[in-house]
Amino acid sequence: MTRRRRLIVGPSGPLHGVCEVPGDKSLSHRVALFGAMASGVTEARNFLMAEDCLRLLAAVEALGCRVEHEGAHLRIHSEGVEAWHAPADVLDCGNSGTAMRLLLGALAGRPFTATLDGDESLRTRPMGRVAEPLRLLGAEISCAGDKCVPPLTITGGNLRPITYDLPVASAQVKSAILLAGLQAEGTTVLNQPSLSRDHTERLLPAFGARLTIDGLAISISGPQSLHRASINVPGDFSSAAYLLAAAVLVPSSEVVVENLGLNHTRSGLLEILAAMRADVRVGPVVSVGGEPRGDVTIVSGPLRAIEVSGEIIPRAIDELPLLAVLATQAQGETVLRDAAELRVKESDRLESVAAGLTAMGAKIRVLDDGWVITGPTPLHGATLDAGLDHRVAMTLAVAGLLADGETIIDGAQAVATSFPGFAAVLSSLGAQVTMQ
Ligand code: S3P
Repeated sequence: MTRRRRLIVGPSGPLHGVCEVPGDKSLSHRVALFGAMASGVTEARNFLMAEDCLRLLAAVEALGCRVEHEGAHLRIHSEGVEAWHAPADVLDCGNSGTAMRLLLGALAGRPFTATLDGDESLRTRPMGRVAEPLRLLGAEISCAGDKCVPPLTITGGNLRPITYDLPVASAQVKSAILLAGLQAEGTTVLNQPSLSRDHTERLLPAFGARLTIDGLAISISGPQSLHRASINVPGDFSSAAYLLAAAVLVPSSEVVVENLGLNHTRSGLLEILAAMRADVRVGPVVSVGGEPRGDVTIVSGPLRAIEVSGEIIPRAIDELPLLAVLATQAQGETVLRDAAELRVKESDRLESVAAGLTAMGAKIRVLDDGWVITGPTPLHGATLDAGLDHRVAMTLAVAGLLADGETIIDGAQAVATSFPGFAAVLSSLGAQVTMQ
């Protein structure tokens, strides 16, 4: 049982400095899993050594791969997915929906049985969205209730290709189907309703896979074997987003975040900030291994309210909690729509973010699929609960920097799932924030 921890946040003076954030979580998950499916020794530099990714590494070890690392330099030794064996124990995915959904895709092609489980939060999250297409491909999957929540048991093998219209723009579901499609005899075709993060499509070719992308349709022909790769992971845009939002909101601040992943399917928040009239500068941008990366500079200043909806939602999905904090300080009424997916993240983020910010004095109305937030409003220090959700903990910490008094965020151990050094990086910029 992880020790409960608290973030203690005080009102902030100006934030200044140049910093980096740890490696991207989505890419670290993919490098680890594709490396485990590939034959040879895959290497990753700047790998995210945080709880979510450590769960995935433990799972691939239980399936027969060998993992070693020195700091953030990771090596995965594997003889390929064909050499995986049935795990002796349940694969514990902890808090990680990505680990569970991507593993299910890979396991769908393996002719043995495995059980996957997770923590209290993961046990509420809908797995039917991956179980349904994987069953069509031929995997046997059992799970609980209509929502198909963990624990899940999967028996794979003998997959047949499918043509599938994704009902939600989910990169996890897309990736699971592609990893199963890689192991099916014939061509699997996926049609996306709109673009979700495309790291899987960009990274699979580095491991030797061939896939075809035509607008929102992706085809993959199987069976294909993967070979080892050497990948350098950029900084996690989602982690940097807390620093960028803090810098734009705390008066007289200027912050540079370097070596940041700037994939267009992830960086929707930059468009949101620009539309709110924030002073944000990007560049120079270079492409490393098919993923753009660069530096982002942001300067504090007044914000105006905006409406956010439509195709940008999946491209900013993990940063939308921060939109709520930005909106509390923006002039006018900010409206978020089309974001019902926030209800099935590590917590129901529409409710958990609104509850935390309302307790601090914000004016937020929760809609079925978004928020209406009226600003600007002064925020007050409060004692809040992160409710097993790392992004809620860090979002409320940013709000705490603006509050007139101390903010205490309980359950902040969740931060370790994606950004273990969060408090240290934020305080290196001048913020009063400690993890206790
Ligand atoms: C992720 C995809 C997103 C995102 C999650 C990580 C990934 O979820 O919210 O934090 O690495 O593929 P969905 O694919 O369910 O939208």
